Amino acid sequence: MDHKQSSVTIRLLEEDDVETVHELLKTAFAAVPESDQSEPDLVRRLREDPVYIPDLELVAEMDQKVVGHILLTRVQIGHGQPAKEALALAPVSVVPDLQGRGIGAALIREGHRRATELGYSLIVLVGHPDYYPRFGYQRASDHRIMVSFPAPEEAVMVHELVPGALDEYEGTIRFAKAFGL
Ligand SMILES: CC(C)(COP(=O)(O)OP(=O)(O)OC[C@H]1O[C@@H](n2cnc3c(N)ncnc32)[C@H](O)[C@@H]1OP(=O)(O)O)[C@@H](O)C(=O)NCCC(=O)NCCS
Repeated sequence: MDHKQSSVTIRLLEEDDVETVHELLKTAFAAVPESDQSEPDLVRRLREDPVYIPDLELVAEMDQKVVGHILLTRVQIGHGQPAKEALALAPVSVVPDLQGRGIGAALIREGHRRATELGYSLIVLVGHPDYYPRFGYQRASDHRIMVSFPAPEEAVMVHELVPGALDEYEGTIRFAKAFGL
């Protein structure tokens, strides 16, 4: 089958997708040297955490098969209280044999669209600095936003869904306990 001819649909996760997504996360991250292979359990824990937003867990479907997944959850950013709410994009994955065909990009763009529709204005992530800038992500430290754990400065990135939103944020990103950071 020529997958280049098949179209990709991005839709909400459904109950029946949960096991498939678990396997997808295992396979996709098995090939990532920086991964500690915790992503399948991380996603399970995040679903039980108050930061979870069911409307922001999406899958990519191609030929009736789930081939990609993305999850955005709530984080807080600030120097103290009150902190401001934003979203964390983590993780995103595509089945290894279909990577490099734009499925990850489609998941990220649809995640952004739905997050904006829900009224969120900022997304943070820790990820590869060669990949995410194409979606508008910038170095968080350039905007006085940081993490409380060791991470390469260029890997901590932010993206404003609403122009000017970055002016409203400053301080440390507080991730959900589920991340174990
Ligand atoms: C990262 C990932 C989701 C991207 O999905 P994808 O469908 O392969 O990506 P796209 O087809 O939209 O984009 C392909 C581009 O991304 C680049 N890319 C993919 N993974 C990358 C990575 N880990 N680091 C840097 N660039 C990456 C490719 O080189 C390609 O670049 P090009 O367009 O300049 O040639 C996918 O490769 C994946 O599941 N990787 C394993 C899990 C992972 O590392 N997830 C991200 C951390 S949470």
